[in-house]
Amino acid sequence: TYVIAQPCVGVKDGSCVQVCPVDCIHPAPGEPGYDESPQLYIDPLECIDCHSCAQACPVDAALPEEDLPPEWGSSLEANAAFFTER
Ligand code: SF4
Ligand code: F3S
Repeated sequence: TYVIAQPCVGVKDGSCVQVCPVDCIHPAPGEPGYDESPQLYIDPLECIDCHSCAQACPVDAALPEEDLPPEWGSSLEANAAFFTER
């Protein structure tokens, strides 16, 4: 699965949402929780590893989980947690 990491925080560019073919990136602009959320998250159960979000993100915040630098490791849990908690 792809994961959205640290660089998205405070940026929330949103380009990833527009290109994701399975609409698995949330909270999207206009969705509940969007304003309060520090970043966007990828639903690990829905992501089809198409790489579109990684290509679209201007700050390279979306990447395959296996490419996450160790210091961003918590992003993996944060992405999954966003979807299991709701
Ligand atoms: Fe969506 Fe593709 Fe990114 Fe997965 S890799 S979140 S399916 S755009
Ligand atoms: Fe964040 Fe990049 Fe998407 S900044 S909202 S992961 S386009």
